[in-house]
Amino acid sequence: MWPTAELHVHIEGTLEADLIEELAARNGLPVPEGAALMARTEPYRDLQDFLDLYYANLAVLRTRADFHDLGARYLARAAAAGVRHAEIFVDPQSHTERGVPVEDVLLGLSSALADARAEHGMSGGLIVCFLRHLGPDAAMAALEEVLPHRELLLGVGLDSSEVGYPPALFRDVYERAAAEGLRRVAHAGEEGGPDYVWEALDILGAERIDHGNRALEDVELVAHLRETRTPLTVCPLSNVALRTSGPDLADHPLAVMLDEGLVASVHSDDPAYFGGYVDDAVTALVAAGTVTPDQLGVLAANSIVSSFLPDGAKAALL
Ligand code: HPA
Ligand code: ZN
Repeated sequence: MWPTAELHVHIEGTLEADLIEELAARNGLPVPEGAALMARTEPYRDLQDFLDLYYANLAVLRTRADFHDLGARYLARAAAAGVRHAEIFVDPQSHTERGVPVEDVLLGLSSALADARAEHGMSGGLIVCFLRHLGPDAAMAALEEVLPHRELLLGVGLDSSEVGYPPALFRDVYERAAAEGLRRVAHAGEEGGPDYVWEALDILGAERIDHGNRALEDVELVAHLRETRTPLTVCPLSNVALRTSGPDLADHPLAVMLDEGLVASVHSDDPAYFGGYVDDAVTALVAAGTVTPDQLGVLAANSIVSSFLPDGAKAALL
């Protein structure tokens, strides 16, 4: 197993059905109906169809200990998948709007990261994502709310419903985040077109593009991504489950991305919903013939190069 950096995983998307049941019991809450729907094997209608289920299941996450346990479960599973470094997305707005204090979210997850460093020798950090469907004012308020915990944060990202919420809306938020020294990434080109990817790069200063599949529709953009070595964090199992690629993994655009010389790497997005963790995704890609076994070293190296680790730490993992 190649040492890998996980750069595109939503911690809320690692909330497995068994942990939902455990947390519901712990907090005296009903088990959300959605927990039973997670075992499905047929694709979701689209991104929104999935997001509705994902947000509803979060009702069971209430306390700092809940967030610690969510993080710890994920990190143990990731360690078993060969992940040596994890830059984890978290959606604070999805918790604060339910009355959970933001410090419980961030301190709970951070304590799980500290434990993983001691127990599994893993490094990692948190990337706070703004929910684009709540708009730029709410995003700015969310940024202000997390900044007192600046030392726990690696960067900012942008996720949730893409179409209708173009990156340019979030210009001021990203400017403010950059002024705080936070690293910048953004989901773009998952359902939105290549123009969303251009905006994420040119207006938000995104250093990585999460997904980016639809960048392939624009030859100039492909050339730009290649020349600037801008990473794409690609999530093949997610793309099949959300119908943002064809139904057959064999036709996944990752093969084209690698042929085009793009810095693409494989990630898991929401593994509790999309049929597996990063090792499962890699195994499925090889089984489908999308990538050859000798490309796995390149994919793993791309993930490490694309991380926000300092150069010395990258070299130690390569
Ligand atoms: N896309 C956008 N937002 C998300 C996703 C996704 O796949 N998962 C969790 N939030
Ligand atoms: Zn994602």
